[in-house]
Amino acid sequence: MSVVKLLCCLLFMYHVSDGRKIKENKAVDREQREVLKVKAPYISSSVFRMFAEGEDHCTLDPLQLHTLTSCGFNSSNPIIIITHGWSFDGVMESWVPRLATTLKRNLMDINVVITDWLSLAHAHYPTAAQSTRTVGKDIAHLLQSLQAHYQYPVRKVHLIGYSLGAHIAGFAGSYLEGSEKIGRITGLDPAGPLFEGMSPTDRLSPDDAEFVDAIHTFTQKHLGLSVGIKQAVAHYDFYPNGGEFQPGCELHSIYDHISQYGLLGFEQTVKCAHERSVHLFIDSVLNRDQQSVAYSCRDKRAFDKGVCLDCRRNRCNTLGYGIKKVRQGTSKRLYLNTRSQMPYKLYHYQFRIQFVNQILAIEPSLTISLTGTKEESGDVPIIVTGSISGNKTHTFLITLDRDLGELMLLKLTWERSALWRNMWNQVQNIIPWGGRERKPLLTVGKINVKAGESQERTPFCAMTNDGQHIEVSQDKLFVRCKDHKRKRSQRTHN
Ligand SMILES: *[C@@H]1O[C@H](CO)[C@@H](O)[C@H](O)[C@H]1NC(C)=O
Ligand SMILES: *[C@@H]1O[C@H](CO)[C@@H](O)[C@H](O)[C@H]1NC(C)=O
Repeated sequence: MSVVKLLCCLLFMYHVSDGRKIKENKAVDREQREVLKVKAPYISSSVFRMFAEGEDHCTLDPLQLHTLTSCGFNSSNPIIIITHGWSFDGVMESWVPRLATTLKRNLMDINVVITDWLSLAHAHYPTAAQSTRTVGKDIAHLLQSLQAHYQYPVRKVHLIGYSLGAHIAGFAGSYLEGSEKIGRITGLDPAGPLFEGMSPTDRLSPDDAEFVDAIHTFTQKHLGLSVGIKQAVAHYDFYPNGGEFQPGCELHSIYDHISQYGLLGFEQTVKCAHERSVHLFIDSVLNRDQQSVAYSCRDKRAFDKGVCLDCRRNRCNTLGYGIKKVRQGTSKRLYLNTRSQMPYKLYHYQFRIQFVNQILAIEPSLTISLTGTKEESGDVPIIVTGSISGNKTHTFLITLDRDLGELMLLKLTWERSALWRNMWNQVQNIIPWGGRERKPLLTVGKINVKAGESQERTPFCAMTNDGQHIEVSQDKLFVRCKDHKRKRSQRTHN
């Protein structure tokens, strides 16, 4: 981790001390805006290219509107404008054509436009960050030309911005004149440094479009700063795997990356978690049958306890392109776990178990295995934090890469840990209890499993009448309770 830390510092933070300039320059920026208003024609610093697969991308000139038509712009169709972020080497990153191709191939009748602001993005980070307003203004100007000459409704516009590009999209929304708002802005791991904690007018915010969503994938803090913004900036803010770091991006993956990309692999490792936001979005377009669902939760800790798998009153939503565009007053933070590769979807289950009358406080290592009508889970270790005592109900989050179907059977195993075995042998030597029945037992009360994706809750009962006891290193089987009628908590999510 220390190498990642070092690189992050190198890549993003070593100029941050210059960042104060941004604030000072705001006044200048305002002056410039006034000047630009007076001086026609508008000069755009950014280049806009219509994306067409397998062809040279056609450059749009908002001043010469015939270029729009000749580039294949169809004013009856929605526009998606993709905007990149800070550039380390001045070269368009490979995710840009990948995202554009995915959108073009999978969505019918769509105009895909790429914002090229590399000339401004290839600069020290604070300088590039400062240019986000300029580029936002360029986009707003392009949209206003479309409005004026094609009566194009801007609610058919979807801006997708990555890193600094997310704030650019926000500024485009705020510079747009008139009462109509941009339809949707998606921020893909919006940049953190120089934007975190700023007022909503100085970063991407829910006011910038009719609907704003954001995917936060690299908010791990180094020296008090994170590459991606940590705070909520949208109507729905998604934090996959807690949002700090992503599976498959660990340092040990660096060897894979180096074998794949050569020395560039080092940079790939650093970009991995940041860019994961893009690939999660691409996944949502490519794998429409495997949409990832995320759940509203206070924080990652609560989510990891499995207490947040609730879909009532829009508490859950779909990550990516197919999001349900329900607006509400405040930002919602949504959590989900994902796989390390595409398709990223994981199925979330809440396992709820009550232990009864536990007199001795113990910390058992439990393994659970679920069998459903479609699949089996295999053995899943349950990590009990804190000891089990009294009559307490514990909840756990279990994530699986497949849907089990309707749950039928549950197997619970109390693993005999080496440590426990030793202790037990010692105890037996000291106190000769004799009878088998004196072996340590866990008595189980109610067991429930709730599937997040189907919102179905299944109670489990012991198969035999010998009570619900679990002994060390014995499998205990539970079945779906007989009198259980299939009950679905009301599902607002589809
Ligand atoms: C524009 O797209 C619509 C479909 O949304 C299509 O019917 C129409 O033919 C297209 N126009 C041109 C000029 O390609
Ligand atoms: C646990 O609950 C049972 C009834 O379900 C009760 O008899 C018992 O006293 C409770 N034990 C503790 C430690 O609260």
